Amino acid sequence: MELVTIQIDGKPVQAPQGATILQAAKAAGVGIPTLCDDARLEPYGACRMCMVEIQKRGRTRLVASCLYPVEEGLTVQTETDKVTRIRRMIVELLWPATQRFAKQYGVTHSRFTTGLADCSLCGLCVRYCAEVKKKNVLYLKGRGIDRKPALVEGSPLDCANCGECFSLCGSGWVVASRG
Ligand code: FES
Repeated sequence: MELVTIQIDGKPVQAPQGATILQAAKAAGVGIPTLCDDARLEPYGACRMCMVEIQKRGRTRLVASCLYPVEEGLTVQTETDKVTRIRRMIVELLWPATQRFAKQYGVTHSRFTTGLADCSLCGLCVRYCAEVKKKNVLYLKGRGIDRKPALVEGSPLDCANCGECFSLCGSGWVVASRG
């Protein structure tokens, strides 16, 4: 396995070629907050909580660490002012699914209209059902503010016997939607 060396927050970190920045950071014990990431699932890149600042060939930019692959010489900063500003905004936008990060990012409430059980569209329930359970009984239905997970019409209602996606749902939407 070919290893590449990157810098994370000023420290050299070795990671296998093809790994993401998030995987390299986790293996090195560097915490990056995530919402839609789950090691059992394919990266999805929906929530943007995992944004970090990278420097490559003298240029700096923000990338989703759960999607961006490591490469030799890459420099990564996980907690810059820009990163913190973005995460703070995401905590507000995806409230209440992000409430667990509120203290860390100094957010006490959301300026946006949110409900107790608003879906954050992280897709964890849908992806878990498809990728791990191989059931595919959930999908994301609708557009814009109407977009929500829904049961595929005509699918066997065996969710009650499974319910494994409930524990993945940070917003409580999956549980609340069952009434
Ligand atoms: S964890 Fe990277 S975008 Fe959600």
